[in-house]
Amino acid sequence: MADVFKDGLLHGQHALITGGGSGINRRIAERFAAQGAAVSIVGRSLERAEGAATAIRAVGGQAQGFAADVRDFDALASAFSQAHAAFGPVDICIAGAAGNFVAEAANMSSNGFRTVVDIDLVGTWNTFRAVLALLREGRSNLLAVSAVQSVMPMATQAHVCAAKAGIDMLVRTLSIEWAQRGVRCNAIAPGPVADTEGMRRLAPEGDVSWARVLAGIPMARAADLDEIADLALFLCSGAARYIHGTVIAIDGGQTNLGSLP
Ligand code: HXC
Repeated sequence: MADVFKDGLLHGQHALITGGGSGINRRIAERFAAQGAAVSIVGRSLERAEGAATAIRAVGGQAQGFAADVRDFDALASAFSQAHAAFGPVDICIAGAAGNFVAEAANMSSNGFRTVVDIDLVGTWNTFRAVLALLREGRSNLLAVSAVQSVMPMATQAHVCAAKAGIDMLVRTLSIEWAQRGVRCNAIAPGPVADTEGMRRLAPEGDVSWARVLAGIPMARAADLDEIADLALFLCSGAARYIHGTVIAIDGGQTNLGSLP
């Protein structure tokens, strides 16, 4: 973990994170809490969200878990208002909830395609729409979790590529509409991240597909969770105060090499 950030960087801030019960988003939640933020973790499973929050509290952080599926706007709005009651106006909102499975386009049902678009793209929209009225007035940050698939076509990922490309344009569009409200909007676009459900699904470590993934990355390794959390922390900090409407790749150079088989 890089120790280039000053301690207490997010002291007094409220960060709300969807999909925060596991993977990238959980590590971001832990990182933000360690930097002083009160963290609301929203997930489909209350047990998992509260489990992540409990682990944060165990090391002295402030966190609480809330249950909602990002596909259900009303449930999401209700969870967010509980989070607002617990920790006050939202300074940072991270739309991280995502779904993925590996399927060739010819074998993908319309419902399968729609399910991932609903979770990733509509879920990001629902998240930002539901949090808008709860944001700290005049100074807040929205961050979406996109992926390299938004700019790099990838076989077996038609649903994810379409959804993540939509997320990039959503963030860029909101950056135009919401700048006057003091809302900064950005996205991060990770490539493969070790120790995540996405990677286990796409290319289990040791599998031949893993070697193919690594061959497509100039830095020849996956990211680790802390590297993603560092970028999220930077983007939500004052150091990034003029970065707005941008999608930042964090991929070891993968998108420069083109698409994978
Ligand atoms: C083909 C599949 C399938 C598969 C599901 N479906 N899995 N089709 N191959 N392996 C189809 C189903 O048949 C169904 O269509 C439709 O998708 C909905 O499936 P459900 O299981 O009913 O949906 P649901 O319970 O809502 O689950 C959503 C999910 C699931 C996305 C399918 O995998 C999930 O909950 N995932 C959350 C965790 C996750 O995916 N984490 C990884 C995120 S990583 P029919 O037509 O049969 O009704 C990530 C980043 C990627 O997104 C970037 C990596 C580099």
